[in-house]
Amino acid sequence: MSAIAPERQASVADTDGEVVVSRYTGVQRVNHWITALLFTLLGLSGLALFSPYLFFLTGLFGGGQSTRAVHPWFGVALMLSFAVLFVRFWRLNMPSRDDITWMIHIGDIVRNRHDRLPAIGKYNAGQKGVFWSQTALILVMFFSGLVIWDQYFFAYTGIEQKRYALLTHSLAAIAAMAIILVHIYAGLWIRGTSRAMIRGSVTGGWARRHHRKWFKQATLRGDVHRDVGHG
Ligand code: HEM
Repeated sequence: MSAIAPERQASVADTDGEVVVSRYTGVQRVNHWITALLFTLLGLSGLALFSPYLFFLTGLFGGGQSTRAVHPWFGVALMLSFAVLFVRFWRLNMPSRDDITWMIHIGDIVRNRHDRLPAIGKYNAGQKGVFWSQTALILVMFFSGLVIWDQYFFAYTGIEQKRYALLTHSLAAIAAMAIILVHIYAGLWIRGTSRAMIRGSVTGGWARRHHRKWFKQATLRGDVHRDVGHG
């Protein structure tokens, strides 16, 4: 594995294997997939409690009572797991001027005209939107969840507060699931993106096409390598 100068990238890719750029460490990927797993478990157990039509989902968790018992604990675990993700990624998701340029070009993005897109850093405005909306929604779900966690906190709030908390909790969960579906769609649909979270690296072509500024920074940092094994 060696860092390579930008002017050599194309020739290296052509002759000696694929140019790859490191995007996530192993720890970051494990943290991400634990968060994704917990989100899935929370969603399924939450939906099971949400509507009688979905009650059959309680079968996945050993019945109605155990689903009710385990759901809030998934929430606590997700809060902790997401907190670690948050600490690692909040800085990279801070808004920048490039976000406005990116949003102005949304038509080109939808039409796949990547040659017209502005050079942007590690994350685009859409990814940042997912990050901050999930941050806000997970906090709302967590604190509204505490208000309705009768097993431990029944005595601390009144019935009126519990009603509002339940409504807020359900609305936040629906919004969070809808936004995560967009995140999954983008991650799986945009060619070459999923390997970022699976193998920890992306191809030089992907980086240049989608995150040109980040690609340049990665080159300077020496995060661009030749991957002969996976070429
Ligand atoms: C099965 C479900 C999921 C899939 C397939 C998925 C896929 C991906 C992929 C491919 C990336 C890399 C994107 C890139 O580097 O450009 C990513 C990044 C990320 N994902 Fe997921 N993800 C899933 C669930 C989740 C969940 C549930 C959360 C949090 C609630 C989450 C939070 C993040 C964060 C914070 C990043 C880093 C990017 C950023 O900070 O904006 N993901 N995901």
